[in-house]
Amino acid sequence: MEKTLVLIKPDAVERNVIGEIITFYEKNNLKVTNLKMLKASKDTAERHYEEHKGRPYFEELISYITRSPLCALVIEGEDAIAKVREINGSTDPEKASKNTIRGNFALSKTENSVHASDSRENAEREINIWFETESTSNFSIGNLLLGNV
Ligand code: PPS
Repeated sequence: MEKTLVLIKPDAVERNVIGEIITFYEKNNLKVTNLKMLKASKDTAERHYEEHKGRPYFEELISYITRSPLCALVIEGEDAIAKVREINGSTDPEKASKNTIRGNFALSKTENSVHASDSRENAEREINIWFETESTSNFSIGNLLLGNV
């Protein structure tokens, strides 16, 4: 079992497609094991996107991701990291296939509806950023499936 961090980004929350997006993951046998809605602070956004600091799009990206609420989710399942990125589709909506989330909802490379961790190391780092004040261990997939919480 792997855990990954998904953000349903401001453009998707603004257009009322949170539910449709979560359905893509659930229909692919992935389980939401934690979720919350919040407006990201500049500090949190910059920590999350620290690898992109210095890129020409960085300031626009931070301003976009902090402009209105987003949903942060922990998603669990077999090969969850790779599976979720496949379900999300290409960063560039023009290259994203039609059966992916971005192929359906993304507007541009910045307003591309969803984010997902790209490695186990980044999944752990990003879950700690967005869920740093909560324990995520209680809602593990095993406990949720067994109804032990
Ligand atoms: S790439 O194209 O391989 O660099 O894309 P990737 O590393 O997956 O993610 C880049 C993240 O930055 C956001 N972003 C942009 N990327 C490329 N070009 C432009 N102009 C741009 N603007 C914003 C992009 O949405 C990716 O965000 P996340 O949330 O990681 O998917």
